[in-house]
Amino acid sequence: MRNLINIMDLTPIEIEELIYIALDIIANPKKYAHVCDGKKLATLFFEPSTRTRLSFEAAMYELGGQVLGFSEAASSSAAKGESVSDTVRVVSYYADIIAMRHPKEGAPLVASMKADVPVINAGDGGHNHPTQTLADLLTIYREKGSFENLTIGLCGDLQFGRTVHSLIAAMSRYHGTKFIMISPEELKVPRYIISDIVEKKGIPYEETTSLEGAMPKLDVLYMTRVQRERFFNEADYMRLKDSYILTPDKLKTAKTSLSILHPLPRVNEIAVAVDDDPRACYFEQARNGKYMRMALITKLLEVAL
Ligand code: NCD
Repeated sequence: MRNLINIMDLTPIEIEELIYIALDIIANPKKYAHVCDGKKLATLFFEPSTRTRLSFEAAMYELGGQVLGFSEAASSSAAKGESVSDTVRVVSYYADIIAMRHPKEGAPLVASMKADVPVINAGDGGHNHPTQTLADLLTIYREKGSFENLTIGLCGDLQFGRTVHSLIAAMSRYHGTKFIMISPEELKVPRYIISDIVEKKGIPYEETTSLEGAMPKLDVLYMTRVQRERFFNEADYMRLKDSYILTPDKLKTAKTSLSILHPLPRVNEIAVAVDDDPRACYFEQARNGKYMRMALITKLLEVAL
């Protein structure tokens, strides 16, 4: 039985397979409308979500399956003190696959050890978010046609931004990747990611505070929200929240082929005026998330296609 806890649980070949399934779903949705008939997805969300939970649910419905679950810890027995292990053990009796989001790093991994059905990490604290990365990868693939030789700018809260951590891991496996990590000093990519992934694989990278300086070099710009809920105090958040605001003016020095991504939700880090720029891909990225989650569900449920 397979789980998806970390994006590295999938090989590059498996990621390519998921992309081909997603592209086929986009081209031939009817072919997939009943492949999960009679199957149930449980969405166990102990933290707020719009896109991730709803796209998982839409994905399962569009495959012919059904959905059950909860969208806040307060409406589950976690509020009574139940452990994640006990919750998933029981939910495995009711569902064929589980997508879990939890504020504690490692909770979905623990869940996968106790569950009798596949568990998907839908975001664990400030750690990882592998299915967002699947959405990011499909977006990059559709924009660029390949994952090779891309200079990727990661901008904003690189410390707590779990989507960034998973994207760094995924992109570190492709030839010619370069990272430019743009953040305030206090919100740099955690050291373990630099040493265990980026430096270990010999990927060229720069750390800078200047979005303007990085802009002309970028093929992909991945903007992120400052993760207020992970800060230890409000004063630090207030000081750092407006560190980067992407505006049409700042894009003047960017390549015409730049692709601008953001996992969403955005607060103010991308001005609404940028939405009309043909380089803005973030809403398309959210749409791609549903297709990749559909592809992932068929894979983990070992559905015959
Ligand atoms: C992200 C998350 O939850 O980490 N959202 C998402 O799933 N698309 C990014 C964020 O909350 O800033």
